[in-house]
Amino acid sequence: MSAEPVLSLQDVTFGYAPGDTLIDIDRFCVAPGESVFLRGASGTGKSTLLGLIGGILVPRSGRISLCGTDLTTLSGAKRDAARVDHLGIIFQQFNLLPYLSVLGNAALPCRFSARRRRRLDMSPDTAARKLVTALGLTDRELDRPVSELSVGQQQRVAVARALIGGPDLIVADEPTSALDHDNRDRFITLLDAQRKRFGSSLLFVSHDATLAGHFDRAVDMAELTGPEKAQAA
Ligand SMILES: Nc1ncnc2c1ncn2[C@@H]1O[C@H](COP(=O)(O)OP(=O)(O)OP(=O)(O)O)[C@@H](O)[C@H]1O
Ligand SMILES: [Mg+2]
Repeated sequence: MSAEPVLSLQDVTFGYAPGDTLIDIDRFCVAPGESVFLRGASGTGKSTLLGLIGGILVPRSGRISLCGTDLTTLSGAKRDAARVDHLGIIFQQFNLLPYLSVLGNAALPCRFSARRRRRLDMSPDTAARKLVTALGLTDRELDRPVSELSVGQQQRVAVARALIGGPDLIVADEPTSALDHDNRDRFITLLDAQRKRFGSSLLFVSHDATLAGHFDRAVDMAELTGPEKAQAA
């Protein structure tokens, strides 16, 4: 693996309570263009790990680098800027902004990131429209408040918001837990096809081990952190 990883964790520890260590990772990397499936039972720290990668949580020790920039050395504002420049996040509960339309939500990262705006060869609104249409929303839905959409439709808006402007890495936190088997497979295939168009890497987190076949590589939380830890990187 010669190219610089888009994500690199080194000797990262974190716990919510002072005497408690939930995350203890020696090394974990995601290569450019790679898709990685991170599985682990409920409560093993998957969302916490994504919070650390997104710079929403700060590790107790260690380095977390996005495209060569160590997030742990940055101030809060610079961490936020690095996050929106390099990362597309699909949250477990989607976290769409209820007062914005479908297009307003999907275009949002471009309001905060000049880098992602520059990577578009069209206006953010046009790019958002193209993306949500490619993801299966119809014209009727585009100007509606997201609170009026079905769960599946909201999920597609969350994916468009993560993809817009081709961030280097997309992290997805159990976005398929509300879907039935067929829709789940269709959703992952669509997400994978779209992120490949942008050249974005993907880190997809789920407790459902049967999804592993959709990805280049699968890693178990138990191998990565905690007592069963091995060389998973
Ligand atoms: N803000 C918080 N403060 C204190 N403890 C927390 C906080 N958030 C999560 N935890 C605890 O940390 C552990 C890991 O939680 P986390 O949400 O990262 O797990 P998860 O692997 O994402 O689980 P799930 O599959 O259910 O989403 C749990 O025991 C949880 O109770
Ligand atoms: Mg979680």
